[in-house]
Amino acid sequence: MPKLELHLHLEGAAPPAFIRGLAQEKKIDISGIFDEAGNYRYKDFWDFLKVYEAATSVLTSPSDYARLTRAVLEESAASGVIYSECFLSPDFCGGRDLGAWREYLHAIREAADQAERQDGIILRGIITCIRHFGPEKARETAVCAAETAGDWIVGFGIAGDEKAGKPRDFLWSFDCAREAGLRLTAHAGEWGGPDSVRDALNDLRVERIGHGVRAIEDLVLVDELAERGTVLEVCPGSNIALGIYPTWRAHPIGQLYDRGVKVTVSTDDPPFFHTTMTREYDRLADAFDWDAGVFETLSRTALDAAFCDSKTKTTIAKKLEAAHA
Ligand code: ADE
Ligand code: ZN
Repeated sequence: MPKLELHLHLEGAAPPAFIRGLAQEKKIDISGIFDEAGNYRYKDFWDFLKVYEAATSVLTSPSDYARLTRAVLEESAASGVIYSECFLSPDFCGGRDLGAWREYLHAIREAADQAERQDGIILRGIITCIRHFGPEKARETAVCAAETAGDWIVGFGIAGDEKAGKPRDFLWSFDCAREAGLRLTAHAGEWGGPDSVRDALNDLRVERIGHGVRAIEDLVLVDELAERGTVLEVCPGSNIALGIYPTWRAHPIGQLYDRGVKVTVSTDDPPFFHTTMTREYDRLADAFDWDAGVFETLSRTALDAAFCDSKTKTTIAKKLEAAHA
């Protein structure tokens, strides 16, 4: 089944063997972030963020990001992904220096173009600031985003520790990105409750919410999301691996879907959470008895909510139609 993925962190999708190999090449010791089996090891979400940043520390050049992009897109294509939007952070790509960022972006785009020619998978970028790095750094990130906004960089967002600061602290950055024509999304309702989702929607005026699942704790908000047509980038395997919900059946995506909220499915940081898009689909089918029709609805929701241009959407729509004919 062809799949669309709207929520994937490029560094978070790095296979551990890829990061280990790069660390060995560069003689950087990050052995503490792996377990005996060679997988990423972390205790909780906040430890995950540290491990993520340690893994990312070995990605030090545009060519490293080109190799990473190729490795990630190979995995995505193997899961049947035909369109993907990935989060990119100028924080990790040249320390928010605009000249350096342009070089990283050029390398990532070249690798993405090559993957599209080879496997047909289409990638677009959403620049994301990191909440716990603070509003000042987010402004520099937003400037990088505004300066490189266009047909490939299609959106702006915020990730990181949802408990650090408030969405309105990042207002300048989101206004800057919006004025540059970028579409907006924000991580919310993952570690924060319904008010965190409300703040992201009302203060930052984003059109999509990354995760958003904890909206389920307030059914008035759930109805509002359904009425407004706000799209949630739901990452069930991520939420379960990080302990927000104990099981697939306990995950609120089923209830949100049943209540008319526009949900989509993504992997977030797949190797960290031992998941793939194929696994997400399989587990959801098992947990909620979802049939092919539901997954087709998810794909169409993702296509409508994608930040790419209409020509790209037409290409993807044709692939979906051919698969579901
Ligand atoms: N960065 C990478 N994965 C994330 C997540 N699940 N939540 C917030 N920030 C992230
Ligand atoms: Zn995320």
